[in-house]
Amino acid sequence: MPRHPDAIIERNQILSDARMRLPSPTRKSQPVSRGELADAVNAALDRLYPDTAKELRVDARWIGKLERGEHRWPGEERRAALRAALEADSDAALGLFNPRRTDDQSNVNAGRFPFKAKVQVKLKPPAQIDTSVAHPARRYDYWLGGKDNFAADRKSADAIEARFPGMRAGIRANRDVLRRMTEFLTAEAGIRQFLDIGTGLPTVDNTHEVAQRIAPESRVLYVDNDPLVMAHARALLTSSSEGFTDYIEADLRQPEAILAAARDRDRLNLSEPVALMLIAVLHFIPPGKGQAQAIVRQLVNELPAGSYVAATHFTVDFMPPEEKIRYQQLLDAGISDIWPRDEAAFSAPFGGLDLVDPGITLVNQWRRGAGADDIDPSRISVRGAVWRKP
Ligand SMILES: C[S@@+](CC[C@H](N)C(=O)[O-])C[C@H]1O[C@@H](n2cnc3c(N)ncnc32)[C@H](O)[C@@H]1O
Repeated sequence: MPRHPDAIIERNQILSDARMRLPSPTRKSQPVSRGELADAVNAALDRLYPDTAKELRVDARWIGKLERGEHRWPGEERRAALRAALEADSDAALGLFNPRRTDDQSNVNAGRFPFKAKVQVKLKPPAQIDTSVAHPARRYDYWLGGKDNFAADRKSADAIEARFPGMRAGIRANRDVLRRMTEFLTAEAGIRQFLDIGTGLPTVDNTHEVAQRIAPESRVLYVDNDPLVMAHARALLTSSSEGFTDYIEADLRQPEAILAAARDRDRLNLSEPVALMLIAVLHFIPPGKGQAQAIVRQLVNELPAGSYVAATHFTVDFMPPEEKIRYQQLLDAGISDIWPRDEAAFSAPFGGLDLVDPGITLVNQWRRGAGADDIDPSRISVRGAVWRKP
């Protein structure tokens, strides 16, 4: 239980204050009602926990009890749905603290916390999510062994894998190298700020978890252009209390908007080194017009010396010839939007930066630990490297 009695009152005031400031989606100039907030929480439950959402549903009375402090510490699923519905990046931002955790710094400080200044909430209409159609991020989640996917995603993923049997191994190796690169950047390069573009659905070892395991004060700004990814990320990726995470829905093709959001409210301090993470995202930028190069240049130009870029990218260079042909057919038919690049095209945007050892490798080879599996290169269609800005 928070130690300071004022904290209990203040904590529960936050939710009702937040609700009173939100516009009702149906009644002009009125604050959102408890029932409308309950609807938004239920929609978030449906999105995040489709299997159990029914049992977890809340109503206006439940919201009232929460505001009055009668529900001190709702279960993880309901807290996640509340964070998603109110676009809050932590439980603390909603004034919710785990009453059993006496080591929680927020509890120690309870009552003196500038809660109101910290709360940034707005109610969004729930995104329309069609679970009967395969979705790229959910398909990716399935290949990684996650649970945020539906039958249509699994069917589509299995069909792709039947044609490209290396798919799952390559994707898993890519996710593993994201962890190893983040470990290198935090533990060896001393980086404490990460701009992670192309977040993907939360899964094991997300960037901030890896970095904060080594340096709890690490700050991570996640960027993705997919609202489904962002809804999950906001709800499920919560920072250590010493560090910081935030999420913005933005497009890699608009680097100036990403940089402006990074500067906004000092999410990242761009006068201190930053690691720009471009893990399995640059290949969504089509080749030919120098667009990938222009994007990377624009982002890197705004980072100080001593910053790093970690990037991975799809390639068909090691695929068996028949798979290469099949892949080209998918591109020609407009079925795939993932553009392979060879080593020269992958590295072109990073000219002028210093390549970190061991250079550009297939992702399973990059600083892999002793005893790591030797996977046939034709199964791993992803290259990766880390560069340092001199
Ligand atoms: C293959 S996942 C990679 C996830 C994670 N970085 C990893 O490697 O495990 C690619 C992510 O990039 C996002 N993405 C694709 N194009 C993007 C763009 N133009 N701007 C921002 N995000 C993009 C997708 O929504 C997806 O979540």
